[in-house]
Amino acid sequence: VPAEIELRRLTTEDLSAANDLRQAAGWNQTLTDWRRLLALDPDGCFVAVKEGRVVGTVTNTSFGLELAWIGMALVDPSQRSQGIGRKLLVKSIEYLQEKKLHCIKLDATPAGQVLYEKLGFQIEWPLARWMKTEVTVHQAVPNAYAVQSVKETDWNEVLQLDLHAFGVSRESLLRQLGKDSAESVVCRGADGAMEGFGFLRTGINADYIGPIVARSEDVGKSITQHLLKTSQRPIFWDIPGPCTAASTWATKLGFVSQRPLLRMFMGENDTPGDPQQTWGISDPATG
Ligand SMILES: CC(C)(COP(=O)(O)OP(=O)(O)OC[C@H]1O[C@@H](n2cnc3c(N)ncnc32)[C@H](O)[C@@H]1OP(=O)(O)O)[C@@H](O)C(=O)NCCC(=O)NCCS
Repeated sequence: VPAEIELRRLTTEDLSAANDLRQAAGWNQTLTDWRRLLALDPDGCFVAVKEGRVVGTVTNTSFGLELAWIGMALVDPSQRSQGIGRKLLVKSIEYLQEKKLHCIKLDATPAGQVLYEKLGFQIEWPLARWMKTEVTVHQAVPNAYAVQSVKETDWNEVLQLDLHAFGVSRESLLRQLGKDSAESVVCRGADGAMEGFGFLRTGINADYIGPIVARSEDVGKSITQHLLKTSQRPIFWDIPGPCTAASTWATKLGFVSQRPLLRMFMGENDTPGDPQQTWGISDPATG
């Protein structure tokens, strides 16, 4: 008789085991990232337990009733292809449907795509994980904008720009990301209006730049160049496929596309945002 799989809420006591699964998959998130996900929805993160051991995880992050994100779908490599991933995803979908969420999204790895398609997710657009290991000479940005650290008085404009780019308001996530980031900057035009913002935080394998929102190409270039200057480590950057200006710039800066991801959705995608202004996502686990 195969051992039973039990699903229950993920608690702070599970974070070390959850982090081991993250490590086994080679992902970049830190314990700080796990804690942020758990704090954003303490009832919405789940583990799969087999013979008393945590063998799978999933997190859910809701942005009001409009949109929720499924993340950190991880199954112990020795326990895959037994239906554990499917159970965790079904649990998440049921949890979010009970809360009457209009739309559920996720950023799928090629390993997850098959499962998500079977569960009814559709493709929105492709994105890619870009990576930079070598420090290359910085490219000159024509008409470089003034880039400054985020101040408390900047937040209203940051949230407005993000709402337009992401599609729904995600103030709690952004504020916490701001606190968890080593660097957070805004970019203003000559008239003083905010044209973009960008964050950089530390990951296990590399520093991570994102979220980054930019209203024009020169703004995106100025922000990313500023963020890169502060890092001495390899850098990961997840760029939406539709934001071709960002991937062209990433190539110029010496980034290489490391692996493909797919943004997928289930339900009504009424608030798609503007991926062309989305120079970098926040994390595949939160969009
Ligand atoms: C993606 C992942 C969570 C799936 O977990 P899992 O427990 O292996 O998935 P399941 O056993 O529930 O399989 C789900 C479906 O995928 C398919 N599948 C799983 N493993 C497969 C394999 N090796 N070959 C072909 N199909 C496979 C099965 O057809 C299954 O469909 P079914 O339920 O209709 O039979 C797991 O592979 C994993 O942790 N991967 C690394 C991290 C990752 O990429 N996560 C996804 C992030 S978006």
